[in-house]
Amino acid sequence: MALARVSEILKMADKANTSVIAFNSSDYNMIHSVFTIAEELNKPALVMLDPRHAVLWGWGNPEIYAQIAIEEARKVKVPVSFHLDHCMDFDLIMRCIKAGFPSVMYDGSMLSYAENVKNTAEVAKVAHAMGVDVEAELGHVGFAVTETDQDDLDLYTKVDVAARFCEESHCDSLAIAIGTAHGFYKKTPKLDLQRLQDINAATDTPLVLHGGSGVPDDQLEKAFTMGINKFNVGTEYFYNYYQTMKAYCQEHEDIFDLQTTVQASLQDYLRQKMQLCRM
Ligand code: 13P
Repeated sequence: MALARVSEILKMADKANTSVIAFNSSDYNMIHSVFTIAEELNKPALVMLDPRHAVLWGWGNPEIYAQIAIEEARKVKVPVSFHLDHCMDFDLIMRCIKAGFPSVMYDGSMLSYAENVKNTAEVAKVAHAMGVDVEAELGHVGFAVTETDQDDLDLYTKVDVAARFCEESHCDSLAIAIGTAHGFYKKTPKLDLQRLQDINAATDTPLVLHGGSGVPDDQLEKAFTMGINKFNVGTEYFYNYYQTMKAYCQEHEDIFDLQTTVQASLQDYLRQKMQLCRM
């Protein structure tokens, strides 16, 4: 049984001066593949449920996701865990906590500082009483499709506010905006590594980097030694999944072996991506 607390895995990553990689995973193929390759490479890893996909699980049933993740974690020895990503819906967060999620994200990054702190602290109070970790976001990681979010300094996390936010919100990890954005980039992101170092110096709270698809490896390797302990990837992983399905269906009339091919392709991608985690 290797289901671990996310905060424990982030602590391990911090000690090793690296980052665990967290993959948005919407179904069995994706969860199973992450934990299988984590075990093969002997590296911790995380899967994350996006609230948009929570609707798919038995029509709003995160309990099924939790059961699959717990069962898959039971099969491996390396520490793995799962997490509810980007959620603003208090009811869904509570439901995930009750279902056994070891970690949830309350995303108040679009709110005022005061509202973000207040709501995150409320979630943290309940979550901590249940032994569940809470990720928060300060500053705002926007969308790559806009082409402007990733460079908009107004959205970046302010160094002087980050430490105060962590203290007041009681979050266990903090997602920061330093030049990434969600989705496919139209132009290569350039991380503000000085800002990352300054935020890391100002707080002991583990830092999280969102919008991981398409960030060049050399920038990630630096960011991982400068305080990023959790790195989120979604778009690349889904793209691999759907492109493999599409190609397979175009090339084959008998599609009963599709799942095997899909899992093999996901696992090839993960084998390469997880090398970035130096644990
Ligand atoms: P990408 O989909 O851009 O990789 O971002 C994933 C993410 O940050 C999930 O929280």
